[in-house]
Amino acid sequence: MKHIKIFDTTLRDGEQSPGCSMNLPEKIEMAKQLERLGVDIIEAGFAIASPMDHKSVRAIAAAVSKCTVASLARCVKGDIDAAWDAVKEAKHPRIHVFLATSDIHMEYKLKMTREEVLQRISEMVSYAKSLCEDIEFSAEDASRSDRDFLAQCYSNAVAAGATTLNVPDTVGYSTPQEMGDLIRYLREHVKGVENADISTHCHDDLGLAVANTLACIQAGATQVECTVNGIGERAGNASLEEIVMNLRTRKNFYDADTGINTKQIYRSSKLLSSITGVAIAPSKAVVGANAFAHESGIHQHGVIANSQTYEIMNSTDVGIPQNTMVLGKHSGKHALREKLESMGYELTDEELENVFTRFKTLADKKKNVTGSDLEALVLHRRNTSITTQIGGCRLVSHVINAGDGVPNTSCIKLQQDDKTLEEVAIGEGPLDASFKAINRMLGIDIKLESFSLNAVTDGEDAIGEAVVKIEAPNGERYTGTGLSTDIIESSIRAYVNGINKMMEDSEANA
Ligand code: KIV
Ligand code: ZN
Repeated sequence: MKHIKIFDTTLRDGEQSPGCSMNLPEKIEMAKQLERLGVDIIEAGFAIASPMDHKSVRAIAAAVSKCTVASLARCVKGDIDAAWDAVKEAKHPRIHVFLATSDIHMEYKLKMTREEVLQRISEMVSYAKSLCEDIEFSAEDASRSDRDFLAQCYSNAVAAGATTLNVPDTVGYSTPQEMGDLIRYLREHVKGVENADISTHCHDDLGLAVANTLACIQAGATQVECTVNGIGERAGNASLEEIVMNLRTRKNFYDADTGINTKQIYRSSKLLSSITGVAIAPSKAVVGANAFAHESGIHQHGVIANSQTYEIMNSTDVGIPQNTMVLGKHSGKHALREKLESMGYELTDEELENVFTRFKTLADKKKNVTGSDLEALVLHRRNTSITTQIGGCRLVSHVINAGDGVPNTSCIKLQQDDKTLEEVAIGEGPLDASFKAINRMLGIDIKLESFSLNAVTDGEDAIGEAVVKIEAPNGERYTGTGLSTDIIESSIRAYVNGINKMMEDSEANA
């Protein structure tokens, strides 16, 4: 059986997509989860892009040890130096160099001839190789490039020391048959290809990213580039969970497998969604809320008789928590730890303490605390720890007076370091009034870009998760999330969380 390397680019191509930006602690938390998931390579960022990108690639390089950590670099010395500086402390560092090879990119974007491109590849791949042993070369827009020329580009890259040749369908234009043919062609025509991994990197503009990736695997690719939940530029990248579960579920067909611990798939997907505030579509394959739900009577009947009538995968295989064992207000820390461990969450004593305190508060409000409730508490522990940063704010109380025909007022009390701040404001509704009160007490001009609210669990006492996207005075955008059984409180918490992230970022950049 072939082993397929999983190159995860959630933190680079994924993070580049609108609404998916993450701050440093979030990137580190996601990188650690990717390591738990078992990806082979983490593309941690594009080090030259900004000081913050450089810093986060470096921090990820230090935070993980099992995975290779890669930084992207254009085919220029400055980029390669920055990439190397950011990954050099990693246990397994990689520099990922790219240059466009399609006629349209070379003529209009690079303004370079084919000869110049060939020469640049040789020079810059050798330069990267002089710094780092593990070099990947990507021919951007490979799928729309002239095949003979493309084969020459990759041959030059191998001769200069590249050990992974990545074949991107940058604009998501190809069909599975074309991508498969291209990989077969390159396997026959690139000199030295037998000493390199052939990789693919497919975008989803026509909804074919996963199908194209699978076709490349059938044609001999040994590495695939993908992202959790398929996030990425425009319509996104090939989704990691879909590729992995295709290979696993249809092992007999593909004769290939990965090193992914599939039980960590759901958790990785949820973590990313809770960090970015980008919801997972209910019908999303593998991780959507409806992916394992059977609504029609005929299907339900079939599944009860034999689950395989309508289920080709098991929800537990991807780590979806079972809501069978519920906890209540009399449950202790030990039971909580056991339940969390059965769901794949191993917390430190300090983290458990934090979740336990919040679990007790929740159990006072809710009769039964289910697996989904606990998952929400665990995923949101990041948001409570952020309030311990210098200048971080914590919601102490809120009093709302709202209704039809009366002015909507909100009185908010926040704790910021050792100061207690209090402000009252009138607004269009209870949330508008609350957000105005917070802006006024902190003396900041924040714009609310979007707001959404989801029930984490079913029932009247469900936890509501609010997600707000705010725009800071400098134009930077931040996502805040908040949890509570009271939806006004979860919204205010989300707003405060967004502001805390903004403050943390300005501290880091100061
Ligand atoms: O889509 C693309 O071509 C890329 C490359 C930089 C690998 O992201
Ligand atoms: Zn890409």
